Amino acid sequence: MVELRDDFERKFKTLRVSLINTCNLGCVYCTCGTEDLKENHLLTQEKGISAHELSAIISNLHNTLQLETVRFTGGEPLLYKDLLKIVSSVKQLGINDLKITTNGLLLENIAADLASAGITSMNVSLDAIDEDIFYKVSRRSGIHRILRGIDKAIESGIDVKINSVVMKGLNEDQVLPLLNFAFSRNLRIRFLEIMAMGHLFGQSEKHFFSQDEILSLINTRYEFTRQLRKNSSTANYWKTEEGHIFGIVANESEPFCGDCNRLRLDSLGNIYGCLSSNFPISVRNVQKDEELTEKLQVAMWQKQTVKFTGSSLSMLNIGG
Ligand code: 5AD
Repeated sequence: MVELRDDFERKFKTLRVSLINTCNLGCVYCTCGTEDLKENHLLTQEKGISAHELSAIISNLHNTLQLETVRFTGGEPLLYKDLLKIVSSVKQLGINDLKITTNGLLLENIAADLASAGITSMNVSLDAIDEDIFYKVSRRSGIHRILRGIDKAIESGIDVKINSVVMKGLNEDQVLPLLNFAFSRNLRIRFLEIMAMGHLFGQSEKHFFSQDEILSLINTRYEFTRQLRKNSSTANYWKTEEGHIFGIVANESEPFCGDCNRLRLDSLGNIYGCLSSNFPISVRNVQKDEELTEKLQVAMWQKQTVKFTGSSLSMLNIGG
C-alpha cells in the first residue's frame, strides 16, 4: 500500500470528527448556538448521517490511513445522542487515542461513561472564570456546572486540558484568573489566538490578542521559559519557575501548518484537509478504496503551506 503524504511529508494521522452542528453556548466568535437548536438538531438527525454510517466512514478512513488519534468535536459533541455508541465503535477499530473537545456544560453526568467508552483525553473550552464575563463571551451562564464537569472528568481518570480563546476588549483580563485556576488544579491550559473563521472571516482584527500580548500579561505575575515544540503540536508551551506548564495556540503569530497531520470529517460526511478550506469533499457512499484514496489526495492538497488564511467555514460545522 502506498502511504498518502504530500510534498512536505505531511500525512493524515489525526481525524477530527464533528458529530453535530449545534451547540448549547452562543460564543461571540462562533455561530453554533445562535441558530434554532431544535430545528438544527432535527436537520442533523434527519439529513445528517446515522452513527452506524459515521462509524463505517471512520472505519474506511482508518483502513486507508492507519489513524493514530480520533478527536470528537461539534458543535457541542455532548449533545450528540449516540456519543457513547460512536466512541465505543471507534475504540473497537483499535484506535486507542480517543479525545474529545467540549464546552463542559453537560459533562458532569456523562464523564464517567465517556471514560468507560474509551475517552482518555479531553479539552474543555473555557474562556472566562468570572460568570459575567463568561456570559458576555458565550451568551449563557453555567460556570459552576462546567467546573463540576471538569472535576468529574478528572475523577474518572480523563486527562483534562483547558482551551481559552483570548479576545481583546472581552476577556483578556481573564488570562491570569484562568491560569491560576488551571495551576491550582494541575491542569494544562492553552490560550488561543482568535481565528478568522465563519462570521469573523475578514475581520479578526477587531478582537485579535496576540501570543506576545498574552505572554506579557502572564509575565506580570510569572517568570517562565519556553519548551521545545513537539512535532504536529498546535501549541507552543512554557514552563513557569514554579514548574507549571501553559501553552499558546498562535494560529496567527506562529502558524503550525508545516507539520499538520489533521484530517477533518463533518457531521454530514464531508472531509476537509484544512480549516482554511471550505470545499467539502463527500465520502458518503464511497465503494472502492481507490475512490477514497483519490478524495483523500484532494483533501491533502487543501492543506496550506505557510499559514491559516481564514475561511467562511464556521466552527459550527467543523469544530476546530
Ligand atoms: N478562533 C479560535 N478558537 C476558536 N474556537 C472556536 N472558534 C474559534 C475561533 N474563531 C475554539 C473553541 C474550542 C475549540 C474547538 O476552538 O473555543 O476551544
